[in-house]
Amino acid sequence: MHIKSEKNRTVELTDVVSECRDVSSLIFRDEETRGAKPGQYLMVWLPGVDEVPMSVSAIDMDGLSRITVRGVGEMTFKLNSLSTGDRVGLRGPFGNGYTVQGDKPLFVAGGSGAASLMPLVEEMHRQGTTPTFVLGARSADMLLFADRLEETLGENLIVSTDDGSRGYSGYASGYAAMLMEEDAFDMVYTCGPELMMAKVYQSARGHGLPIQASLERYVKCAVGLCGNCAIGPYRVCKDGPVFDADMLSEVRSEFGVSQMDASGRLIRVEH
Ligand SMILES: Cc1cc2nc3c(=O)[nH]c(=O)nc-3n(C[C@H](O)[C@H](O)[C@H](O)COP(=O)(O)OP(=O)(O)OC[C@H]3O[C@@H](n4cnc5c(N)ncnc54)[C@H](O)[C@@H]3O)c2cc1C
Ligand code: FES
Repeated sequence: MHIKSEKNRTVELTDVVSECRDVSSLIFRDEETRGAKPGQYLMVWLPGVDEVPMSVSAIDMDGLSRITVRGVGEMTFKLNSLSTGDRVGLRGPFGNGYTVQGDKPLFVAGGSGAASLMPLVEEMHRQGTTPTFVLGARSADMLLFADRLEETLGENLIVSTDDGSRGYSGYASGYAAMLMEEDAFDMVYTCGPELMMAKVYQSARGHGLPIQASLERYVKCAVGLCGNCAIGPYRVCKDGPVFDADMLSEVRSEFGVSQMDASGRLIRVEH
C-alpha cells in the first residue's frame, strides 16, 4: 500500500539521533509515512522557517519512520537543532520511488544520498538480495549509515573517501566504474551529488546497464503545479525524484549541467 498524502499534519519527534558530521536523523510515528515506498520523500515544515523535501530514510521500523538531515542552510540547521518532543509539519510521501529490479544490483551513494537508498537496501535484503554498495564521502567522519550498511551488507559494502581517511581513496563514481568493469551487475541505483550521478550514469551506459538515479531540484509545491523543479519534460517532484535510463537520456542536456534556483533562475549544477 503506497499512500500519496497531501494532508498537512504535525508529528512529535520520538528521538533525534546524530549519524555523522553535520547529519542527524529525526524519528517519528506517522501513519502516512508507514506506507511510503523506498525513494519517496516528505515535505517537512517548520513554521516561520521553510518547507523542504527530505527522503524517508527508514520506513516503519516497529511503527516508526525517520528522515535524515544534512545541515547545509537555515532550515536544515534548524531541523538538526530539534530535540525529542519537538514537532515538525509533514506533507507526503511524494514522488515515484525506486522500482525493485535485478538480482545483482550495484548501489552508489555520496553525500546524503544513502538516506534515500537505505530503505531500498533493507527491502531488497528482506527479499533475499544482498546488493553491492559503494558509499562515498569527503572524509571518514562524513560517511552516512556506514555501520547500518555494514551490518546489513557485510563485505558487500565498499567505503570510499575523497581524502583517503577510510577505505578506497578517491571518488565513489571511480570505484563504481572499476566494479562495472569487473563484475556483471544487472541494475545500478545511485543517489548523491549530481556530478557523481552523472559519472555513474556514463559508466552504466558504457556497460549497457539499466540505472535508477534520484535527482534533486528545487521543490516547492511537490505536486507538479508550480514548475520550479522542471527538468526537460519532467517535474522532479512528481515524475521523479527517481529517473530511469530513458528519462535521464531525455534530460541529458540539463542532468549534471543546470537547474533552477528558488526564484526559477537557471544556474549551474556545482556538486
Ligand atoms: C527529493 C529530494 C529529497 C531530498 N532528501 C534529502 C535528505 O534525505 N537529506 C538531506 O539532508 N537533504 C535532502 N534533500 C536536500 C534538501 O531538501 C536541501 O538540502 C534543503 O532544502 C536545504 O534547505 P536549507 O534551508 O537548509 O538550505 P538553503 O541555504 O536554503 O539551500 C542550500 C541548498 O539546498 C537547496 N535547497 C534549498 N531549498 C530547497 C528545496 N525546497 N528543494 C530542493 N532543494 C532546496 C538549495 O538549492 C541550495 O543548493 C532532498 C532534496 C530533494 C529534492
Ligand atoms: S515543485 Fe512545483 S512542480 Fe515540482
